[in-house]
Amino acid sequence: MKILIIGGGNMGMTYAHSFLRSHITSKQDMMILERSPEKAAELATKDIGTVYGQPDECMTRADLIILAVKPQDAASLFASIRHTVDAQQVFLSIMAGVQIATISEALGAKKIIRAMPNLPAQIGMGMTAFTSSEEVTRIELVTVQNLLNTTGKTVYVENESAIDGATAISGSGPAYVWFFMNAMLKAAQNMGFTYSESELLVRQTFQGAIELYNATDYSFEEWIQKVCSKGGTTEAALNTYRKNDLEQRIINGATAALHRAQELGSK
Ligand SMILES: NC(=O)c1ccc[n+]([C@@H]2O[C@H](COP(=O)([O-])OP(=O)(O)OC[C@H]3O[C@@H](n4cnc5c(N)ncnc54)[C@H](OP(=O)(O)O)[C@@H]3O)[C@@H](O)[C@H]2O)c1
Repeated sequence: MKILIIGGGNMGMTYAHSFLRSHITSKQDMMILERSPEKAAELATKDIGTVYGQPDECMTRADLIILAVKPQDAASLFASIRHTVDAQQVFLSIMAGVQIATISEALGAKKIIRAMPNLPAQIGMGMTAFTSSEEVTRIELVTVQNLLNTTGKTVYVENESAIDGATAISGSGPAYVWFFMNAMLKAAQNMGFTYSESELLVRQTFQGAIELYNATDYSFEEWIQKVCSKGGTTEAALNTYRKNDLEQRIINGATAALHRAQELGSK
């Protein structure tokens, strides 16, 4: 299967490297279309497939076309490739907020998969939610899921509106985690630790908590109950968080992200 990645930026290159690293495709089957001549010249030196500057040079050769440009560049991209689109080609879009119906109408294409990855995809630890138009066959869907799996874990959602939910949870989620980590880092510094000591305390605590959680069958709630002894230090912290309604505030934040994703998608 010939894969064409349109947009040789952060995500486009994340996919190219992940696919090649996992040997799910070969350099011979990989094409990259990048509009910036400087970037294209640089990519050509990286030995990750054939790099093109014009859609007409590569579009018709591709079975799967990955749309990895910024959403604001979508309209001009669509206009530049529409005349080359074949009904059998499968499109995988990772453009935030650009709906399947928009892509289908703009390209005259029917087989469209829409995915929402997140930043840790860069190191194979990503979380991607994806959905598809009815015309995508089971085999095509599995093929694309296998490709996405090279960047981390994936979940298929029936309803396209769930992509907005995934944007709010896993898409924006790494920043929520860093926000909490940063607050803990500040608390550690207030207690007299140096920056690097604080950073180590926080980083290892998060890493350890995740690894321990992964190693057992307990839920988050159960773990919280297990470590909160009556009258203890952990309980003192959690009581303060609860008194300040922190849980609801975190939910409110994620909900604000959902509303923003819906708003951007409707434009
Ligand atoms: N980064 C993430 O974690 C993440 C997560 C979820 C979804 N996404 C989505 O992934 C997409 C790509 O994000 P990114 O961070 O990889 O962006 P990026 O680094 O800016 O890469 C996009 C690349 O596409 C090129 N490009 C734009 N229009 C083109 C065209 N018509 N033909 C060929 N190349 C074109 C751009 O060239 P120029 O430099 O000339 O503009 C740029 O090199 C976005 O739609 C974003 O919503 C990203």
